[in-house]
Amino acid sequence: MTERIYIGVAWPYANSHLHMGHIAGAYLPPDIFARYHRVKGNRVLMVTGSDMHGTPITLSAEKEGCSPAEVAEKYHRSFLKSWEGLGISFDLFTHTETQNHTEVAQDVFLKLYNQGHIYKENVLQPWCPACCRFLPDRYIEGDCPHCTYDGARGDQCDKCGQPLNPADLENPRCGLCGKTPEFEESEHFFLRLSAFQDRLIEWVKTKEKLWRSNVYNFTLSYLKNGLKDRAITRDIDWGIPVPVEGYPGKRIYVWFEAVIGYLSASKEWAKNKGEPDEWKKFWQDDSVKSYYFIGKDNIPFHTIIWPAMLLGYGGLNLPYDVPANEYLTIEGRKLSSSRNWAVWLPDYLSRYDPDPLRYLLSINMPETSDTDFSWREFVRRNNDELVATYGNLAQRALTFACRHFDGAVPHPGEFEEVDEAMLSKTRAAFDNVDRLLYRCHFREAIRTAMTLAGQANRYLEEKSPWKVIKEDRGRAATSLYVALSVIDSLKTMLYPFLPFSSQELHHYLGYSGKIEDYGWKVDTLKPGQKMQSPRPLFVKLDDSVVEQETSRLGN
Ligand code: MF3
Ligand code: ZN
Repeated sequence: MTERIYIGVAWPYANSHLHMGHIAGAYLPPDIFARYHRVKGNRVLMVTGSDMHGTPITLSAEKEGCSPAEVAEKYHRSFLKSWEGLGISFDLFTHTETQNHTEVAQDVFLKLYNQGHIYKENVLQPWCPACCRFLPDRYIEGDCPHCTYDGARGDQCDKCGQPLNPADLENPRCGLCGKTPEFEESEHFFLRLSAFQDRLIEWVKTKEKLWRSNVYNFTLSYLKNGLKDRAITRDIDWGIPVPVEGYPGKRIYVWFEAVIGYLSASKEWAKNKGEPDEWKKFWQDDSVKSYYFIGKDNIPFHTIIWPAMLLGYGGLNLPYDVPANEYLTIEGRKLSSSRNWAVWLPDYLSRYDPDPLRYLLSINMPETSDTDFSWREFVRRNNDELVATYGNLAQRALTFACRHFDGAVPHPGEFEEVDEAMLSKTRAAFDNVDRLLYRCHFREAIRTAMTLAGQANRYLEEKSPWKVIKEDRGRAATSLYVALSVIDSLKTMLYPFLPFSSQELHHYLGYSGKIEDYGWKVDTLKPGQKMQSPRPLFVKLDDSVVEQETSRLGN
């Protein structure tokens, strides 16, 4: 039965290039998942876009000496290039400065306001007397009231993950000049989160077996601590105007508006298709499963605030699963953009192929705990696993068949026990990978496929058709057929992870068209099918890469 799968992906702030942490945390996993479902024949809608508002953008604009719009445009273009280079296959990658997004965000705001889920109240806003300005959330620092971390910002504590209001901070300091800010009264709009507490707890409890335990536990304990209403407007001029008369100097808070992007992008996608109601099939039919792929710092916004907004709005699907990832460290140290302790995607793509990176970040994915990226590991896994195991297997089998069997898949004779065993291992691995991918266990899925590649490599080595062919052509044909059949299945299992090399292999094996259209099939390779002589799928990397690349870090 075909399913409909909605995939929402965290909206990256358009204030820097993408780095490996972004990719491992939030962007590669949904792409694997989307490709898997497409091969399975399911209907997928995967959307996100550049988050162009908020203080991350205005801070960068001030630093780079240009307007917020210019900064956002620049990095939006960079993102588009990166997705293309890495093969991240969004159905739509838009941004939050579109007319459509403004309209949808204002509609959600107004509907919640008119239904009493949003109310007005006077609050104390931080004002820096030295800088003579209101301080937006990330311009104010202080001690976290929950964990005492002394680098918490006015919107969130980056240590314990709790969302904050500026007035919650202890020992507040201006992020620009370090002085103690004063607090001045200002009228703001509040989301009545407290009213959703019980419904959210009830809903989250239905997710106990489904959600990753870190996501589930974090969310439930957060809810049990008690939900506080949150201000959803700010005294700034960059962002989406408040759709209520009399508040020209205020904008909708970036977090409130960015999550609405999941809905607005779906509507934009439908309009672009010329079927403006198509989004409803993904949002209003409750048999659709909605997945949200994010890094762990975004959990409460996707498991509490966005669901509360959806409950208030009514008639739209809540998240089904929120498979949040942990963090990626770089060479054993915490990633830091400001210290350039990061591997930037545009740099990577200017020097290497996309699949080896997708491979490493998949097999080492920070799903249940933080994992490390190191260039040594990158080179080792590329050379030992992609080149020497999988690539070598494909290369040897295809080249030999092309040379000695007239460029076609050989007709097998009778299978011996080892042949049967190899084929049944393949079917078992295929089903396991299927189950694992369905449940978003990406790391285990790719490990399962690679174990099979290792087994097939040993099988081919033992069978040595290049020796056997001299005395028994039939037996050589059989083992070659078995090897090619495993390779054919590996290509499909690995497609979500390694789309570029899998698609090439698909053609070498004699198919035309795309794997996504061919489908999720095991054991269907036809004897006699004409193949193409292959070129190596992966290139061996020199050890010097390790030294060269690590020396770029931190400079
Ligand atoms: N821009 C935010 C970040 O990079 C993420 C926003 S996810 C969204 O942390 F759904 F809220 F848009
Ligand atoms: Zn100041």
